Amino acid sequence: MEQLTNRAAYAPDSPSLKEVFRDRFHIGAAVNTWDLDPVSENGRVILKQFGILTLENESKPVYIHPEEDRYFFDRFDRFADFGRDNGIRLRGHTLVWHGQCPDWFFRDGDADTSHDRLLSRMREHIGTVVSRYRGRVAVWDVLNEVLRDEGGLRESRWYRIAGEDYIPAAFFAAREADPAARLVINDYNLESSEAKADTMTALLEKLIRDGVPVDAAGLQMHLNLFTDMELLRKNVRKIADLRRLKPDFRLEVTELDLSCYRWGDSAADLCWTEELERAFREKYTELFHLFLELEREGILDTVVFWGLNDGVSWLNGFPVRRKNYPLLIGRENRLKQAFFDVAGL
Ligand code: GLA
Repeated sequence: MEQLTNRAAYAPDSPSLKEVFRDRFHIGAAVNTWDLDPVSENGRVILKQFGILTLENESKPVYIHPEEDRYFFDRFDRFADFGRDNGIRLRGHTLVWHGQCPDWFFRDGDADTSHDRLLSRMREHIGTVVSRYRGRVAVWDVLNEVLRDEGGLRESRWYRIAGEDYIPAAFFAAREADPAARLVINDYNLESSEAKADTMTALLEKLIRDGVPVDAAGLQMHLNLFTDMELLRKNVRKIADLRRLKPDFRLEVTELDLSCYRWGDSAADLCWTEELERAFREKYTELFHLFLELEREGILDTVVFWGLNDGVSWLNGFPVRRKNYPLLIGRENRLKQAFFDVAGL
């Protein structure tokens, strides 16, 4: 049985992660607009625990810009208002991605659009969205998942039509639209794939040397109980080392969770055991030790969990529907032992 305590994440006398780490880093979560009700249970968890928020889906192009001439900003506006009203820092996620991006970006009738047209659509999208929230959204995931799992650039439709050019162009467009926002390149498995970490480091090195306005690498950190921590540390250190080229370069942990299944494994529900619980607590503790170490060096200032609690995590539905337990806040917003371990560091 997973070690849920009888303490609720929203209870006034429970510890608050954002308070515990107030002087260290922004602690946050991915949320959905239906959670942004200050009197609901999830809304109270958000207000109590988190100082930075990302919209899990509703700010992706497929939702806000489904047709070339139509934007739907109502949900993003709600998110922005919630941030303003409650003094919460906001991340915009995500401007350019191969996933959840409508087809019209890439098409002209039945054929692929041209290089120039795709870039001009991208610039228009970035300019419109980022300037609308200028000064209100502090951080943008400008590019998401532009690398292949085995290293090298992903052969997405962005890449096939525009080549590498879309990468710097996206950052320049975002910088122009909000000169003060932090601009991030975000990806997964940077921790567990040396080839991917190497490609990210080489790409960032080139972008920085070319004067492209990229401020941070987003480490998604969709981890699992089997993640090799030595390798994780080595890969993170490699990317952190880019600071030698750009002193104000930062890392952000953008989508943290810790699955109990191996990456790519589609096993059915497993029964939560004491052994899993021990591994889970140890891994979270080790991770936060590393985060604190990176914070002391001034390179990491943001840690965002991907979801509010275990019950709503995407990992209950990916890659197959089954129960998962990846966060520090369990089902029904009960705090786990691991939450107290981390809060006690
Ligand atoms: C990626 C994306 C997120 C989200 C997760 C799964 O990590 O960056 O926006 O879609 O996958 O939920």
